[in-house]
Amino acid sequence: MENLKNLQVTQNEAVNLLHTISPYHYVKSLNYKSPYDWQAAILKSRHKRKVINGARQAGKSTIISAKPCHIAKHYPESVSIIIAATEYQAFLDMEKVKEFIAHDPNFPDLKRESDRLIVLDNKSWIMVVPATEKSARGPSAPRLILLDEASRIEDIVYTSGVIPMLTDNPDAELISISTPNGKSGFFYKSFKSQKWERYEIRSPWRVIESDIRLVPAEPEEEYKVKCAKKGIIGFNSPRHMDREEQQFNLEEMGTLMYKQEYGPLFVEPKDQVFDYEDIERLMNSNITPFEPDRIGIAEPLKI
Ligand SMILES: Nc1ncnc2c1ncn2[C@@H]1O[C@H](COP(=O)(O)OP(=O)(O)OP(=O)(O)O)[C@@H](O)[C@H]1O
Ligand SMILES: [Mg+2]
Repeated sequence: MENLKNLQVTQNEAVNLLHTISPYHYVKSLNYKSPYDWQAAILKSRHKRKVINGARQAGKSTIISAKPCHIAKHYPESVSIIIAATEYQAFLDMEKVKEFIAHDPNFPDLKRESDRLIVLDNKSWIMVVPATEKSARGPSAPRLILLDEASRIEDIVYTSGVIPMLTDNPDAELISISTPNGKSGFFYKSFKSQKWERYEIRSPWRVIESDIRLVPAEPEEEYKVKCAKKGIIGFNSPRHMDREEQQFNLEEMGTLMYKQEYGPLFVEPKDQVFDYEDIERLMNSNITPFEPDRIGIAEPLKI
């Protein structure tokens, strides 16, 4: 009886324990962007190496930004690092991290806060860096490494920046998430390797090339079975259900690009005609438009 008494915990302690061991329950408790099924699967997974091949705008960066908030709060003195494909992506990811933090009234105090780094009262760090070889040479032994738009990150950043951080660091979790970008590079290789837990998040439409039209792809259950035969965990993206919107995307970007960006399929590099900056500009309405008026009038040249 005395032993049982010792086991009693307060409700707060019980909730805290649940949130510590379950990132899914923690993120759900924030009442902010309740995870889609595929995001929930990633939060629930205990596999230390996850690779997610997902459609554009599926919610990849959102889930990447929720993970470090969980680790930083519940594992004092931990280091989480997001490596993003571009400066702009890094900025957006940090904004998303801060939004999750703002929805947790019990989040530890922030001791330092910048575009690149958050240091918490409990001595945990969250870093968000663009993927240059130099900046990705992060601290030793991070607990969590997240690669956002990994297919656009140079192999050298992965091999000489990321891999060394895993040395003698068995607790480290590595998550690589992206749309595809050709059949080469570490992201493509990891998606082909059974050492990784692999996810595919697709738009539930199939392209009819001859008349640039979308028809429903096979039902999600069939798709899941097909993926499972390849050792992949497949999901429909709930953000791509609107056929008209997807048809518009298809017509704007053409069949090849639609298949890559929403398939999400690894098309041959020789077929690729768009660079990432172009795609990002096309997809992201938040980028400040070019405003010629702000340049002002040039001084006449004095010769
Ligand atoms: N679980 C969710 N509930 C509600 N909205 C969500 C959820 N996950 C993501 N979103 C919203 O979906 C939109 C796209 O999310 P996000 O930027 O994370 O996608 P992405 O896959 O990283 O996109 P991109 O391919 O452009 O990088 C955002 O407006 C985001 O707030
Ligand atoms: Mg993103």
